Amino acid sequence: MNQISKKILFSRNEIQKRVKELASQISGDYAGRELVIIGILKGAFIFMADLVREINVPCKFDFVRVASYGASSESSGKVVMTKDIETSIKGRDILIVEDIVDTGLTLQYLVNWLKERSPNSLRICVFLDKRKRRKVTFEADYVGFTIDDGFVVGYGLDFDEQFRFFPDVYIIEQ
Ligand code: PRP
Repeated sequence: MNQISKKILFSRNEIQKRVKELASQISGDYAGRELVIIGILKGAFIFMADLVREINVPCKFDFVRVASYGASSESSGKVVMTKDIETSIKGRDILIVEDIVDTGLTLQYLVNWLKERSPNSLRICVFLDKRKRRKVTFEADYVGFTIDDGFVVGYGLDFDEQFRFFPDVYIIEQ
């Protein structure tokens, strides 16, 4: 990672194991139903791709783009939707897939946005939960790992658009 000092937080093997556990839980919870899985771009794309290939109930897919961080490591607190879903979710079972929940502002905004379209159910699966940094009350239904404060990259997570492609998750040492 060039000049930035980093330390592995979760290895690709740990991630793979946890993703399989989450997928198994989700598959059990939705047995006999069909899911519409909505990924939040850009960060969720790698987690979502791995997760859905381990889920064994039928799934359809859509994506939203919701940005909050801009080019810095601190949330601006402003949430902007730049790409909406393209399918009807009325009466459907929805699973939002996200890479990380931090302040909770992004997911709070998106959940409210999607609930207006009357889905049958709506749950959230996040890869990482930075629970202590919440600015709004928010609980995900499925959580890969809970982490402390600190800036993490890899497995879809970026720092100023860099490092998303790393197969492991690193914490940046300041
Ligand atoms: C990041 C992350 C979440 C959000 C979490 O997105 O992917 O969507 O911030 O922060 P919050 O809980 O404080 O709202 P970002 O805007 O960096 O976009 P990206 O997914 O393209 O990296």
